[in-house]
Amino acid sequence: MPFYHKLGKIPHKRHTIFRKPDGSLYYEQLFGTIGFDGMSSNLYHEHRPTQVKEIKGSYDVTPKVAVGNNLKSYRFRGFQITPHPDYLQSRKPVLTNSDCDIILASPQGSTEDYFYKNADADELLFIHKGTGKLRTHLGNLDFKYGDYLLIPRGTIYKIDFDDEDNRLFIVESRRPIYTPKRYRNWFGQLLEHSPFCERDLRQPHELETNDEKGDFLIKIKKQGKIFDMVYATHPFDVVGYDGYNYPYAFSIHDFEPITGRIHQPPPVHQTFETDAFVVCSFCPRKYDYHPESIPAPYSHSNIDSDEVLYYVDGDFMSRNDIEAGHISLHPAGIPHGPHPGAVERSIGQVETEELAVMVDTFKPLKLTEDAMEIADETYHKSWLEEEDRE
Ligand SMILES: [Fe+2]
Repeated sequence: MPFYHKLGKIPHKRHTIFRKPDGSLYYEQLFGTIGFDGMSSNLYHEHRPTQVKEIKGSYDVTPKVAVGNNLKSYRFRGFQITPHPDYLQSRKPVLTNSDCDIILASPQGSTEDYFYKNADADELLFIHKGTGKLRTHLGNLDFKYGDYLLIPRGTIYKIDFDDEDNRLFIVESRRPIYTPKRYRNWFGQLLEHSPFCERDLRQPHELETNDEKGDFLIKIKKQGKIFDMVYATHPFDVVGYDGYNYPYAFSIHDFEPITGRIHQPPPVHQTFETDAFVVCSFCPRKYDYHPESIPAPYSHSNIDSDEVLYYVDGDFMSRNDIEAGHISLHPAGIPHGPHPGAVERSIGQVETEELAVMVDTFKPLKLTEDAMEIADETYHKSWLEEEDRE
C-alpha cells in the first residue's frame, strides 16, 4: 500500500521501550517486504510473535496441471465450481504459472478453527458474491459484492462470511501487487488522471487484540504446501502498528472509467500491476462518442500475454453466450476479438453495463484438472460463422 497508516497504540519513537500498564514490555516486529527495501509496518505485540509450539505436518496443494502447453482459447463456467464448507478447501486453482495462480472459490463457511497465512504470495480476492469481514492481525475490513481485497504476503487472516452463498475470484501472486506506477507521482501519490485515488482505498479500521496463550493453529502456505503450525500465543495480539504494509480494500464500483471519442485500449482499465501480470476492471461506462466510432474492440494479437477475463455482471457486448461467473482464456500467440455480429451490434450503442475483471499474464498459463471439469471445449470455434461450425 503506497501510503501511511496507523492503527491502535504505538510508542513515540520506533525501537524504543514501550510498556504495558503492568510495566512489562510490548514486543516489536518489523513486518517488511523485499528485504528491508520494500514497504513495511512496525507492529507491537502482547507476546513475542515467534513462539512456535509444534509443527503438526504439511500437505501438498500444488495445482494439478492438466494442460501444460496451451494454444487454444477456452471458456470456463466458473459457477460450476463446487462449493465447500471450508475456505481453504473451497479454493480451486484453474490457471497457473510460476508467477501466479488464478483461483475460483465458493466457500460456504467462515474460517473457524484455524488462521491462514500465505508466505509466498500476495492474495487479491475479488468478491463476486457474499458479504462479511476479513479479519487480520493488522485490523479488519468489511467486504461486499464488487470489492477487491488485497492481502499482502505474510498477513495472518481469517475470513468471516455472513451466509453460505459466496463466490470469489482470487489471484495469488508471487510478485508484489501495486497500484499502477504511471498513475503515481514521485512521492507515490495517485495523480489526477488516475481512475481512482487514495480516498477510494479502504484501510483496516478495527484491530482485534487478544493476549490469550494456548494452542493456535496457523495454516501457512509456502512453496505449494500448507504447514500446520501451532503457536503458543494468539496471532491477533497486536496493540498497534504503523507503516505502509497492510491489507486494503477497493470496490470495483469506485473505479472511474476513462472513455474517449474512439475505442480506448485495455490499459485504461488497469487497476493493479505487478512485473508478471496486470489486473484491469471493465466497468459500466459511456461508449465512444465519435459519430462513426465502433464501440466493440478490434481483433488484437496479444502475442506476449495470456488474457483471462472474468465476467461479473451486465451484458458482454463483444461476446456471445457469456454469463456471469464465466472465464475466457485467450492465449498468447493467436489473435482474438469480437464474436460474429458483435461489431455490427455495437454501432450506435451509447453505453455498456458490463462488469468484468481481466488478468493479463506475461508468461503462459497452464490449465488445471479443476479447470478442465468446467471447460467449454468448443469455445475456440466460437469466432466462426454459424454455418462453418461443426
Ligand atoms: Fe482481448
